[in-house]
Amino acid sequence: MGLVALEGVGKVFRGRTGSWEAVRDFTLSLEEGEFFCLLGTSGCGKTTVLNMLAGFEAPTSGRILLDGKPVTRPGADRGVVFQGHDSLYDWLTALDNIGFGLRLRGVRRTERRATAERFLQMVGLNGQGAKHPSELSGGMKQRIQIARALANDPRILLMDEPFGALDAMTRAVLQAELSRIWAETRKTVLFITHDIEEACALATRVGVMKRGPGGTLKAVVPVDLPFPRERTSDGFMRVFREVHALIHEEIHGGH
Ligand SMILES: Nc1ncnc2c1ncn2[C@@H]1O[C@H](COP(=O)(O)OP(=O)(O)O)[C@@H](O)[C@H]1O
Ligand SMILES: [Mg+2]
Repeated sequence: MGLVALEGVGKVFRGRTGSWEAVRDFTLSLEEGEFFCLLGTSGCGKTTVLNMLAGFEAPTSGRILLDGKPVTRPGADRGVVFQGHDSLYDWLTALDNIGFGLRLRGVRRTERRATAERFLQMVGLNGQGAKHPSELSGGMKQRIQIARALANDPRILLMDEPFGALDAMTRAVLQAELSRIWAETRKTVLFITHDIEEACALATRVGVMKRGPGGTLKAVVPVDLPFPRERTSDGFMRVFREVHALIHEEIHGGH
């Protein structure tokens, strides 16, 4: 049995103007230590899947298990990294942001600082711990979010297009850094993106979603290439083409 199991998960949003089926019959098992990229076009239901696993939204059908137990609410066993950086507290320093979850759990100050320093260093921000989020670049803020999520030692890291708002160069640097951190920690990751190259560069498996309404998992492509990934290699190109063909049908209307 995998670390995470999504079993026939569906989500229908009901509003005053009617209902919208965002996700339909989504089934996936995540193994401990894998880096799973969920790829899909805009609006196909990626964020909805992540939000249900995070415990922010309840499924309307099916069930979600983490370590064999149903997910019913958010918890420290799932670390979430969002696309924007609004989730960082601007009145706290970078170091105190990283240590915030530890503080909530009553970890003592000296241990908290030591752990926060360790993760600050891991994300390459040594010596920047006293700065506040407003004094940091977009890329640095995403590093802080990653460090904060890891500092809580979650069972799984949930990342929703975390590099989507960054410029291309910063994004490439952060992708490489995340890949290195994953290799170091072997933390299980569910990473959401609409960028084919990003998925192929990071993932051990890429899940491609069908477009909505009723977005669901269409195919899973294993990416059996060594890290760090060489994006101009034949192997990379081969995987890219395979994934591209799957997503192309979703963009251009094939079924
Ligand atoms: N709270 C909500 N109420 C109604 N519809 C929603 C809500 N959240 C998402 N949706 C709809 O569900 C679909 C999937 O959204 P989302 O999961 O955000 O897609 P993605 O992250 O793949 O771009 C979209 O059509 C979106 O408009
Ligand atoms: Mg989204």
